[in-house]
Amino acid sequence: MNYQVIIPAAGQGKRMKAGKNKLFIELNRKPIIIHTLEVFEVDPRCEGITLVVHQNEMEEFTHLLKSYHITKVKSLTIGGKERHHSVFNGLIHLQNEEIVLVHDGARPFIKQEIIHRLVDCAMKSGAAIVAVPVKDTIKKVKEGQIEGTIDRSSLWAAQTPQAFNVSILLDAYKKANDEQYIGTDEASLVERLSLAVEIVEGDYDNIKLTTPEDLFFAEAIMKKQNK
Ligand code: CTP
Ligand code: MG
Repeated sequence: MNYQVIIPAAGQGKRMKAGKNKLFIELNRKPIIIHTLEVFEVDPRCEGITLVVHQNEMEEFTHLLKSYHITKVKSLTIGGKERHHSVFNGLIHLQNEEIVLVHDGARPFIKQEIIHRLVDCAMKSGAAIVAVPVKDTIKKVKEGQIEGTIDRSSLWAAQTPQAFNVSILLDAYKKANDEQYIGTDEASLVERLSLAVEIVEGDYDNIKLTTPEDLFFAEAIMKKQNK
């Protein structure tokens, strides 16, 4: 089955300290957001992209889509204060499609094979996310002192894409909005409906470009992937 994807790109990139939206930073002479969009542009199972952008950057994004021949963006939607609001703005503009993915504009290294495994899983379960096992030993700390060590075998780091049956994600947003809960990912909203969310194991290349040193890691991943 095919899918639609919402790509939130309306952040300010404050932690990247680039003085502009980090998604315009170039890797190998191509903006980060174009690397991300191209993964979906070439995926035959992707039927359409909803790109969520800041009002003031509408023109810049429109220009980039044209220059790089990105044809699957059906809708350019205005973002909100937090990522949570940006994704919701994208979601309410979608037709009642069966499966919708949400994928961070700042994760350009997602692979098609992982997307397809995720979509297949979400078709069966209604909700699934890409995640990787945590590599570090994680401590719970209070006022500078360790309170305990969390069993690592039960810890996974959530990534995107996250995939849902559209009506489930709409219900999850409705409950969150009614209760004024703001999530940092979509799965956390669905968890609050007490519905099961499946994990699809991804890979460690799928980093979110967040702080300046991530750009060095990105160069290395590009080399490894021959991009
Ligand atoms: N995002 C969005 N709308 C917001 C905030 C974030 O669409 N109000 C998007 C970002 O553009 C990014 C993704 O959500 O593609 C993940 O967010 P994050 O990595 O936190 O990016 P920024 O919010 O831009 O960065 P920062 O938090 O450092 O300012
Ligand atoms: Mg942010």
